[in-house]
Amino acid sequence: MNYATARASLISQPKRWLITGVAGFIGSNLLETLLKLNQDVVGLDNFSTGHAKNLAEIETLVTPEQWARFDFLEGDIRDVAACAQATRNIDYVLHQAALGSVPRSLSDPLASNASNIDGFLNMLVAARDNEVRNFVYAASSSTYGDHPALPKTEDTIGKPLSPYAVTKLVNELYADVFSKNYGFSSIGLRYFNVFGARQDPEGAYAAVIPKWIAAMIKNQPVRINGDGESSRDFCYIDNAVQANILAAHSQSDARNQIYNVAVGERTTLNELFEMLRGALASHDIRYDLAPEYCDFRPGDVRHSQANIDKARNLLGYSPTHDISQGIIAAMPWYLSSHRD
Ligand SMILES: NC(=O)c1ccc[n+]([C@@H]2O[C@H](COP(=O)([O-])OP(=O)(O)OC[C@H]3O[C@@H](n4cnc5c(N)ncnc54)[C@H](O)[C@@H]3O)[C@@H](O)[C@H]2O)c1
Repeated sequence: MNYATARASLISQPKRWLITGVAGFIGSNLLETLLKLNQDVVGLDNFSTGHAKNLAEIETLVTPEQWARFDFLEGDIRDVAACAQATRNIDYVLHQAALGSVPRSLSDPLASNASNIDGFLNMLVAARDNEVRNFVYAASSSTYGDHPALPKTEDTIGKPLSPYAVTKLVNELYADVFSKNYGFSSIGLRYFNVFGARQDPEGAYAAVIPKWIAAMIKNQPVRINGDGESSRDFCYIDNAVQANILAAHSQSDARNQIYNVAVGERTTLNELFEMLRGALASHDIRYDLAPEYCDFRPGDVRHSQANIDKARNLLGYSPTHDISQGIIAAMPWYLSSHRD
């Protein structure tokens, strides 16, 4: 099934979805797309890293009728009862709630473990008990760990390099065990450095693109961890949203699998710096400072690039934006969010 067919099918036969982490970056983008497809959506979030303003922004982007199809539950996936309530009468779960960031997990591994492993297991049990049809969850490219092969293919992983990577690997192991023992259907999406509107630029654990754009707009220094030659497969949010919808709506032979979600290209941090500087220049914002190089960050992988053939072949995934197209698409949001 391709994306257009999946969307048409959902519009003609709306489903009831649960998005965990709905007030966060990826969750709020999933919400926007599903409401625009006239789906019924329940959202769960404890606002630990997500924001009420993200939900308020979605309200402005959909019609009042579409917004009325959304039920928000403020709650925590570490709470079994909250998971049970949220998964009641749900067709598809898009499980995004977790504490992201490798450095966060190194400074507080207990917190990452509690949300990312205990919370994940609570959600799996609740979704199984409430007979959810398909459970799509946010896995991570960090699971490739210390394996040097490029591009990354789903069945060749190394050892995790951080507590965060351990949690995401454990998610995959639990999902697999639930499929084998309970016949419970799931799909893990290994996201590779997703970026776009509503990704938080603030705080010590902000992702590189929103953090650098914010610094450049404010004419503040940009810090590069290491020599700038580390590389990533930066994936625009629309590609990740597409993968979630295709995965949820997939046929049974595509389920109980893990998929890379990326573009299949590799950009170094030095190249990214120049791309962002150029994109701002085309909006008449000049940034003339040179980047400041500092130490490599512990726990980070050196290079990352996905092979996306499996998602293309089994899910019908076809990314619509490469990194440059994604930066152009996201730029109006970056500019408006830093206007004042
Ligand atoms: N953004 C990326 O590049 C990327 C890459 C790989 C994997 N992921 C995964 O994708 C998912 C979404 O990431 P994001 O970038 O949108 O991050 P985000 O921090 O913007 O969103 C996560 C959301 O989950 C919520 N949350 C966290 N712990 C919770 C808990 N215990 N109970 C209820 N809600 C909780 C937060 O409040 C937040 O709204 C995460 O699982 C993350 O690990 C993201």
